[in-house]
Amino acid sequence: MIQKNIFLNNKSIGYKIAGQGLPVVLIHGFAEDHDVWRYQQDELLKHNYQLIIPDLPGSNQSSMTEDMSIEGMVHSVKEILNNESVSKCVMIGHSMGGYITLAFAEKWADQLLGFGLFHSTAFPDTEEKKATRRKSIAFMQAHGADAFIRQSTPNLFTETFRNKNNQVIEEMMARYSSFDVQALVAYYEAMIYRPERIAVLQSFSKPVLFIIGRHDKAISFEDSMKQCHLPQTANIHILDNSAHMGMWEEKEKSNQAILSYLEEVAQFTLE
Ligand code: MLT
Repeated sequence: MIQKNIFLNNKSIGYKIAGQGLPVVLIHGFAEDHDVWRYQQDELLKHNYQLIIPDLPGSNQSSMTEDMSIEGMVHSVKEILNNESVSKCVMIGHSMGGYITLAFAEKWADQLLGFGLFHSTAFPDTEEKKATRRKSIAFMQAHGADAFIRQSTPNLFTETFRNKNNQVIEEMMARYSSFDVQALVAYYEAMIYRPERIAVLQSFSKPVLFIIGRHDKAISFEDSMKQCHLPQTANIHILDNSAHMGMWEEKEKSNQAILSYLEEVAQFTLE
């Protein structure tokens, strides 16, 4: 894929782009970057889609921007699409990337032919979740990103996956342990303050994709089931052997889910 950059108020935002066809934008989650989609890239490119994969502000080579709220980060995605003259696309977000996708859909629904929540939710944080995040912020500030990433990353996977793929998890921790603590704190604050976006699901008239991890501890299976019937057209996939990282834990199943959804979007667009 080609690496490109845009500048927002002199802050550089990076993204990867490749392929031709219907533009598909993949948005990574908290303490991740474009690399989280490593197993989806080739598969989607083989099927003639144009792929656009941003590094959100504060991740990888992208600088933190002035407004690190969910809505502020949406702007960086919008500017990338403007830079590529993309007027219609499908957007799929992993977890925090899903919160950003929902905020995009709230503002620019017409630009989306469809959108997907991959281990994500339109419900806001509960008070309990906010309190946990605040404790994590204090932990990161006291002990640094490395200690936080090492403590939290293994919980994103099922025990079975962890036992068989220790190396993959070690590599992931090594990649993200140098994250800027300020960026991690900003993401947590952005998530704490994000509003409910159930109305976005209810009002969107095109297909919505849900990929749900049966063992997800970050976005519970129960919460996911409470929202996936809300859109007028929903394409729902449950990954029985995944926690929060289905795109790695069950990569083929995830790819099939995304591809079948994209076919449905194409059908829907032709009708
Ligand atoms: C993520 O993976 O983006 C986060 O786990 C989302 C969250 O904590 O709500």
